Amino acid sequence: MQDRFQRNVTRLRVSVTDLCNLSCVYCRPSQGVPHLERKDILSFEEIATVVKYGAELGIRSVRLTGGEPITRRNVERLVASLSKIPGIEDLAMTTNGVLLRQYAAVLKEAGLMRLNVSLDSLRADRFRQITGGGSISDVLQGIEEALRVGFQETKVNMVVMRGTNEDEVEEFARMSLEKPLEVRFIEYMAFGCRMIEERKFVPSKEVMKRISRLGELIPVGRDRPLSLSNEDRSKDLSLRGPARLYRLKGAAGTLGFISPVSQPFCGDCNRLRLTSEGKLRACLLAGGEVDIRAILRGNPTPETIKRAFLEAAVLKPAEHSGTGEAVMCRIGG
Ligand code: 5AD
Repeated sequence: MQDRFQRNVTRLRVSVTDLCNLSCVYCRPSQGVPHLERKDILSFEEIATVVKYGAELGIRSVRLTGGEPITRRNVERLVASLSKIPGIEDLAMTTNGVLLRQYAAVLKEAGLMRLNVSLDSLRADRFRQITGGGSISDVLQGIEEALRVGFQETKVNMVVMRGTNEDEVEEFARMSLEKPLEVRFIEYMAFGCRMIEERKFVPSKEVMKRISRLGELIPVGRDRPLSLSNEDRSKDLSLRGPARLYRLKGAAGTLGFISPVSQPFCGDCNRLRLTSEGKLRACLLAGGEVDIRAILRGNPTPETIKRAFLEAAVLKPAEHSGTGEAVMCRIGG
């Protein structure tokens, strides 16, 4: 499946719930978002149906997000059913890690291949402040457990914010020395109602300069799902993610830089998003959605479901203006 700009659409991000057990500064909508009702959320069966037909059209990589995906009861059952869908080569989850200590083994057992853990501070008081009451030790224990049960290429995502956590980037980078983690630094996107927070933006270049005080940053190419063999990974560019990868000399893990603001990667965008309420969305920031829930709850046929995908792909803009109003928990971060 291609969009109007000959970009192959190979990845689907699926928000499994709009609920979250944290309330992070950049995610907290200014006016609050009313929670969706249970009936408005896609069922596991509905999500699996969407993924099945997506896979027939060329979706190969699925990432579960939220809200916080582990707060959805029995999410491991969804993982198990998605992992059996032919054509899905990569099945990952983005989590805040709070419940990982309890669930890492269950998720691995169910067939989850990779984990991304969002973590913006390593200091207990600051973490509590950023997340609206979260406990850093839960997340650190969650990451340890993920490594212990055998998750590979686990990623830690830090959103770098000036005046909030920029002084911790070296500490984060040091995590990659000892542990086989990919520690990633994401540029803060000040979108919609949060334009006032533009001053929090720190360019990746500046972050890299800070980190290079620890040693030379050796480039190691672009991000690619682990599940592909090394040979496939160097051949297949259509599945790559937005991070530019580096390694500190002798480090067990890698460092990634994601620069949506200073180096927008729309030209390489290969994603669609499925929101928790069943909209197939073309872009995080630019509007453009197809109501696939209405199709699933009408008289769905393989053709009508596939047509929804193709319509959503056509809605993908060449690039977004970067100023759209995105409610992350609804769309799936
Ligand atoms: N800018 C950059 N990254 C963000 N995320 C959420 N909001 C923003 C923002 N405004 C990140 C989260 C998580 C991922 C899903 O998106 O920290 O790691």
